[in-house]
Amino acid sequence: MAVKDSEISEIIRGLSATQKHISPKYFYDERGSQLFDAITRLPEYYLTNTELGIMRDNIDEIVAMVGRQASLIEFGSGSSLKTRILLEHLSELAAYVPVDISDEHLRSSAADIRDEFPHIDVLPVVADFTKQFDLPTPTVMPVRNVVYFPGSTIGNFEYDMAMELLRVMHHEAGKNGALLIGVDLQKDPQIIEDAYNDSAGVTAEFNLNMLQHLNRNFGGNFNLGEFKHSANYDPEGGRVVIELVSQTEQTFEVGDSAFNIADGEAILTEYSHKYTLDGFAAMAKAAGFSVQKVWTDAEQLFSVQFLTRD
Ligand code: SAH
Ligand code: AVI
Repeated sequence: MAVKDSEISEIIRGLSATQKHISPKYFYDERGSQLFDAITRLPEYYLTNTELGIMRDNIDEIVAMVGRQASLIEFGSGSSLKTRILLEHLSELAAYVPVDISDEHLRSSAADIRDEFPHIDVLPVVADFTKQFDLPTPTVMPVRNVVYFPGSTIGNFEYDMAMELLRVMHHEAGKNGALLIGVDLQKDPQIIEDAYNDSAGVTAEFNLNMLQHLNRNFGGNFNLGEFKHSANYDPEGGRVVIELVSQTEQTFEVGDSAFNIADGEAILTEYSHKYTLDGFAAMAKAAGFSVQKVWTDAEQLFSVQFLTRD
């Protein structure tokens, strides 16, 4: 991955703040993408299986709402696991455009999709989706763009950034466009905390791998053994707070900058917001989307929602 000065500056800015933080997008080097895939297979991580179940149970209705000859633009496509259900059923697709920051992983996932679905025009885009990016032009003219944003990745953004992102998706969807999105719901806090503190320790490894990514690609010298994974649900904020807690007073460097961190001080690496259906609908409305349909599982753990542009 080519290191950009703007990324180094972003990391240094976050580590210089009173609450040290690093954007969750730095989880996703090749190893991070693999670890996330391992998370999706954990028994405690209910999100993936529940969302897959909702997709399978309602696929005919979902396909009817997407309509004919759409261009499916997926934000944060990862391994395109859930997309396969859509691609198997959307017989007339103008194009599939997976967008992800994890360069190598995106390219190999897109190659797999091409092998499995040779009739589909697969046009991967390596981009940071929080910023506007250019869409490739499919060979077949799409009837509409449908942005697909599964996995509740929207939950990894605080309100202002989530709004900004919804506006980017509003723009990329274009006129007649729609948004198919996975949104995790508020529930028994124990179920949520278990999902982010799995017994096999994969989430801890995923969190710590961010420091390894910074060591490898951004001139970091973190001692991984001196940090510990922490994930706690804050019911007031409706979000999981995921951190790396320093186990000792220490210094570390990133690029040319050195930082001190106290014993017990945390670096915030991620929020994972959980929504109410009303709360999400209000946020989407403020970004110019109306919820047309919500599908959930029997226990109301997770939702898949279809929104259109106002
Ligand atoms: N959609 C998949 C993967 C979710 S993991 C699923 O539901 O299982 C989140 C994905 O978003 C990762 O593949 C990560 O590389 C990507 N991602 C995170 N932040 C990003 C950003 N700012 N720009 C582009 N991709 C991003
Ligand atoms: C990608 N995102 C929706 C995951 C989540 O559940 O917030 C990332 C994750 N972090 C720890 N486990 C999974």
